[in-house]
Amino acid sequence: MENLKNVDSEVYQAIEKDNQRQNNSINLIASENYTSLAIREACSSMMTNKYAEGYPGRRYYGGCEFVDIVENLAIERAKELFGVEYVNVQPHSGTQANMAVYIAFLKPGDTIMGMDLSCGGHLSHGSKVNFSGEIFNAVTYWVSPKTYELDYDSIRALAKRYEPRMIICGASAYPRIIDFNIFKKIADEVDAILVADIAHIAGLIASDVHPSPVGTCDLITSTTHKTLRGPRGGMIMGKEEYGRLIDKTVFPGIQGGPLMHIIAGKAVCFKEALSNEFREYAKQIVKNAKALADCLLSFGFKLITGGTDNHLLLIDLRDEGLVGRDAEKLLEQQGIIVNKNAVPYDSQPPTITSGIRIGTPAVTTRGMKEDEMKEIARMINTVLRDKKDVKKDVLSLCQNFPVI
Ligand SMILES: Cc1ncc(COP(=O)(O)O)c(C=O)c1O
Repeated sequence: MENLKNVDSEVYQAIEKDNQRQNNSINLIASENYTSLAIREACSSMMTNKYAEGYPGRRYYGGCEFVDIVENLAIERAKELFGVEYVNVQPHSGTQANMAVYIAFLKPGDTIMGMDLSCGGHLSHGSKVNFSGEIFNAVTYWVSPKTYELDYDSIRALAKRYEPRMIICGASAYPRIIDFNIFKKIADEVDAILVADIAHIAGLIASDVHPSPVGTCDLITSTTHKTLRGPRGGMIMGKEEYGRLIDKTVFPGIQGGPLMHIIAGKAVCFKEALSNEFREYAKQIVKNAKALADCLLSFGFKLITGGTDNHLLLIDLRDEGLVGRDAEKLLEQQGIIVNKNAVPYDSQPPTITSGIRIGTPAVTTRGMKEDEMKEIARMINTVLRDKKDVKKDVLSLCQNFPVI
């Protein structure tokens, strides 16, 4: 990064420091990952310079012949990866993907039904502090107060009561399999459009490690940067019949020019995700999450739902005499990066919380396996319970598994 260093030493130094931070800490943030160098090269390429409003073959700017190649590659590869008829790769983020779907099919004031933020849903599924809860009449479903798992009977009862025009399934902090078939039955019973937001589990779905919503849910939104291990961004998938409406809602409806350098990165991401190595990687993410969960349970930690089926787990700190905010800080001081997270029916506010969310996509990319998960569980136990230093152990684990 010689040019950056010469032109802007402040930005250069901050990036260098974050580079070191990423290398020297154990990243357990469930929504983060490390992209390949190939993806980073695509994302920092000359395509950042190009305006390309419109879609391949029908742009509002000249000089689009090569960005068209890249966008078509991204679309075709995503279709193959997920087995879908239609894909739009232009949403700048997962939230933009959700916004496009809502704006395409709903009118302001329509009722939508998503998972409550406090139970693991996402802000863009109807939270009051988000456009989705502001523009639409959002009702939210909660998990069972006993098991903390999705309670499909109560979701059905809520749907019958409020008759939403759209139901959103998918989550940011839910450690179990989501049953898209039951959601579809419920949506059909109340004549609602069913959207699956697979932002977190896209990489697992692409590798058949989690059931797919394709063919069941009407529309599918996702990010590309979590388990899918691509650049930051969003995408929308579905049946061909929805394509025209979604396309025109994304552009010109809610976005201007697409980020062609990022779409280039998405194309590379989908190519990588089609490989056998990626399938093995996705399987290992889940094996690692289960190994981490088992070890934490053996230390006596309480996990929401008692374990995990996917890439993440939630430690319930309510019996530990600790809140999520403080646990996050204690771990961060040792180089273990997690995020505080509400547990269902939490009495603490979102800035404090009673839990932490832990995910294995990033450490699995570094090549860590079950043995390293045991080591990480031991370190978490030492930091949170014994309040002892593990910095040396963190560093040596990081050095043995460098970030590429
Ligand atoms: C389920 C879900 N949907 C949507 C998003 C939004 O993605 P972005 O941060 O790219 O807007 C997230 C991000 O965490 C998410 O977890």
